Amino acid sequence: MAAFKELVFSGVQPTGNLHLGNYLGAISRFVTMQETHDCIYCVVDLHAITVPQDPRELTDQIREVTAAFIAAGIDPKKNIVFNQSQVPQHAELAWIFNCVARMGWLNRMTQFKEKAGKDRENASVGLFAYPTLMAADILAYRATHVPVGDDQKQHLELSRDIAQKFNNDWAEAIVENGHGDAFFPLPEPLIQGPATRVMSLRDGSKKMSKSDPSDYSRINLTDDADAIAQKVRKAKTDPEPLPSEAAGLSGRPEAENLVGIFAALKGVPREAVLAEFGGAQFSAFKGVLVDLAVERLAPIAGEMKRLTQDSAYIDAVLADGSERARAIAQPNIDAVKDILGFVRGR
Ligand code: TYM
Repeated sequence: MAAFKELVFSGVQPTGNLHLGNYLGAISRFVTMQETHDCIYCVVDLHAITVPQDPRELTDQIREVTAAFIAAGIDPKKNIVFNQSQVPQHAELAWIFNCVARMGWLNRMTQFKEKAGKDRENASVGLFAYPTLMAADILAYRATHVPVGDDQKQHLELSRDIAQKFNNDWAEAIVENGHGDAFFPLPEPLIQGPATRVMSLRDGSKKMSKSDPSDYSRINLTDDADAIAQKVRKAKTDPEPLPSEAAGLSGRPEAENLVGIFAALKGVPREAVLAEFGGAQFSAFKGVLVDLAVERLAPIAGEMKRLTQDSAYIDAVLADGSERARAIAQPNIDAVKDILGFVRGR
């Protein structure tokens, strides 16, 4: 397949409290990726409205996610940071992808099944088509690499299937328009590190999530040092001391989760954590984890607070990012229109 320039894209929904899972599984890795790649980071507000949202809260949350990106260390000048609804090319390409993706593919999406629950007839069409908009987010820029947490794996496989089907179905027109043997890259999911799936602090079998009714299940990015300490101290554990090797974590989901969190916060592999704390009781381990979590997270919370008070600055970042995003996406959409055979003004 044709070679594509490496470009990173990822998105975060503005739908409630950002938590440690979002940070370790995604945002902290966005920060690392900017050292080696051109990156585009999007606040996906069009995805947010696939379920009901209060307009005022949505506005605040779009700004809060943007503030979290910047507070975590993403440089909005070097990278592109914007909100999806300011770049109409996403919705435009999503419609085209709705005509590429098959009902059967979307019917298999486990997140739709979970989110729609029993009352599927009453779910929005947008919730069903959610993954085609995700594919459009990535492919509007012909992005090649997508850092995400483990829960987005199936959606990214679908993005690859859409890219592949587009390349196959329009192969002849793609060649005729001078794009070689493929117009879209097959975007590669980057699901890496010790915290690709951070679990609830109350139940090691459940994912840490924005929607868990218990606030003790998650550490929010806006939590202060006291809240972080309390939540870590109350985190569920088992009575055994920590093992000294990874094999000893199997069947111990809460221990595995805390070790993964520790490793990700410290930026070391799990094995290094186990080598240091093997044989230790949880009470001792939690004490060190509290210090580490506070050291890493409290400054982010402080900076988020400061930034969200300056909404004019945040809005200017989003406007500037959107303009730069549109400039990349528009030629790609034009090319897609030519490939499809649409007539367009030039
Ligand atoms: P969202 O907003 O649910 O989550 C944002 C990112 O956080 C990761 N994440 C986790 N990682 C580890 N442990 C957890 N407990 C945890 N919970 C969430 C998610 O995997 C994600 O990377 N559909 C996406 C947003 C999106 C997107 C895109 C992502 C829209 N378009 C294009 C990549 C590319 C979502 O709902 O993420």
